[in-house]
Amino acid sequence: MNSLKDLQKKAQEAIVASGSLAALRDVEVRYVGRSGELTAVLKNLKNLPPDERRVKGKEANELRQLLELRVKEREATLKRQEYEGKLHLERIDITQPGRRHHKGSLHPLTIIQREIETIFASMGFEVAEGPEIETEWYNFDALNIPAEHPVRDMWDTFWLQNNQKEIRNPKSEIRDKSQIQNSKQQKLLLRTHTSPVQIRYMEKHQPPFRIIVPGRVFRYEATDASHEIQFYQLEGLMVGENISLANFRQVIASFLKKLFSREVKVRLRPSYFPFVEPGVEVDMGCIQCAGRGCPVCKHTGWLEIAGAGMVHPKVFKAAGLNPKGLQGFAFGFGIDRVAMMKYKIPDIRLFYQNDIRFLRQF
Ligand code: PHE
Repeated sequence: MNSLKDLQKKAQEAIVASGSLAALRDVEVRYVGRSGELTAVLKNLKNLPPDERRVKGKEANELRQLLELRVKEREATLKRQEYEGKLHLERIDITQPGRRHHKGSLHPLTIIQREIETIFASMGFEVAEGPEIETEWYNFDALNIPAEHPVRDMWDTFWLQNNQKEIRNPKSEIRDKSQIQNSKQQKLLLRTHTSPVQIRYMEKHQPPFRIIVPGRVFRYEATDASHEIQFYQLEGLMVGENISLANFRQVIASFLKKLFSREVKVRLRPSYFPFVEPGVEVDMGCIQCAGRGCPVCKHTGWLEIAGAGMVHPKVFKAAGLNPKGLQGFAFGFGIDRVAMMKYKIPDIRLFYQNDIRFLRQF
């Protein structure tokens, strides 16, 4: 009798003390398993006298049922605890502030270039491109800028070393090319303006057309707040039968109006570029002071923004087009200067220093 009571006490304590499902399994095996302690008692019943056997057998069976019940209860408790522990470990604190991810942004020159392209696209202009390493022919001679002519001094040039390169040119009957074009030796340079793309485009396309050419250009000059050795230009070219300077005035005025979101005054002044005739300088009314005069416009009320003019017949010829009955305007301006005006940036060099404090503002 006593031994059953002892067994019950030990077994129940062990069940309650088991801290995991695995430990509980061990306890179960130890007491009610096939070779467990209680099972041994039940097996020994047959050695007892019949009376004792009946009483003890009943008690032992009741104890077995009780222990199995206790194991089940303990098992349920342990399972719940395990689940709650897991919930606790894997919980997410939805009140915790999120981690900030730093987003990159577009360079201000990219932003302004895309904006300019969109505006011109709305007026039917297509985007064309050309190489940054250019030949002397495309950058100068074809644009009516002969070697040894003082007008070349307008563009301080980076010449490339070992720049003798064989260039083959497509044949055309009405081509009127200078000697340098016909010779196979071409001096290479970093283009000083986007105007060479006028020639490259006209070699491959028949008028009428209207294009813009955004691109990087290079000048061998000292740098200061408004000069860099590299900067971006936007060339424009519109050619057809009756294209006039009045058309240009209209195009540039609507462009400036859209870019600066206000009415902008435009003024054309006579000027000289070898590849246009007549040539003009384009001024816009100062947006800083609305023409009253301020330091930005040096108290003139006007800002110089572009060179332009009517395409010179020699340029048509150099590109292999017959200039007869053909008219067009060309213009070119600095994208950096426009960005400086639009974003009120005082120094052009900021665009090329990659200072994150500057770039983050866009
Ligand atoms: N290419 C000229 C420059 O860089 C600008 C220009 C372009 C002027 C087209 C007239 C016509 O100074």
